Amino acid sequence: MSIMDVKFVNGFVRMCNDGWLQGWHERNGGNLSYRIKPEEVEEVRQYFHEPSEWKEIGTSVPDLANEYFMVTGSGKYFRNVILDPEDTSAIIELDDKGENYRVLWGLCNGGRPTSELPSHLMNHEVKKKASNGAHRVIYHAHTTNVIALTFVLPLDDAVFTRELWEMATECPVVFPDGVGVVGWMVPGGRDIAVATSELMKKYDVAIWAHHGMFASGPDFDLTFGLMHTVEKSAEILVKTLSMSPTKLQTITPQNFRDLARDFKVTLPEEFLYEKK
Ligand code: 13P
Ligand code: ZN
Repeated sequence: MSIMDVKFVNGFVRMCNDGWLQGWHERNGGNLSYRIKPEEVEEVRQYFHEPSEWKEIGTSVPDLANEYFMVTGSGKYFRNVILDPEDTSAIIELDDKGENYRVLWGLCNGGRPTSELPSHLMNHEVKKKASNGAHRVIYHAHTTNVIALTFVLPLDDAVFTRELWEMATECPVVFPDGVGVVGWMVPGGRDIAVATSELMKKYDVAIWAHHGMFASGPDFDLTFGLMHTVEKSAEILVKTLSMSPTKLQTITPQNFRDLARDFKVTLPEEFLYEKK
């Protein structure tokens, strides 16, 4: 028996490798976090070492007080997670105020959790509330095509949502709430965490201009699938724009309304505007 036999640990490591195989994680790019269920904490407790010192998160997440997370390490490469999870990732515990964390497992050769820990935890806090506890995964990836689009499309939620929806019929069913966009900001701190978590109140996807994407979901499959769907749609848009600046035909607002009816999803009218 090893910690890799625990289902959530295995799922975490597999997702890191899946992201690497997609080409979204050059060098140490991207990070992943999972909010561990209480019964899952008991499955891994036997592997915990002496807790590290408490360290500041860099923001305050009181609604996550005393919760446990599995997170990737700062500066660690996704391509190495499958080879050495204990070096590249960590299990951390938050204190009773949600202001400090300590490492209970992993980062065995030193280091600290991802520099995007404030964004991960603030997104977890928002999504835990918005989903009544269902969402547990926050994933940040450097998705090539979405990043490319942030140089040519206006940095506007409605424009990105509508353009991405139009590129694949399944998109409005997979992300019916749309996507939010954060203009360029310095990564790794509280300010970008606040801006991102504000968007996460409304969306499951937030795009960081000229940087990448954050996705939130209840489990590894749904969160990876969401990232994959948005990025594939962006790839189709990049290809389409590369062939021609205009579309000869597309999915129309009325097509989206018909789709919403049959697939029983609600598509906000704010994204079904008439284009000039
Ligand atoms: P970390 O190596 O600290 O996780 O940072 C990678 C990254 O993508 C920053 O946005
Ligand atoms: Zn990044």
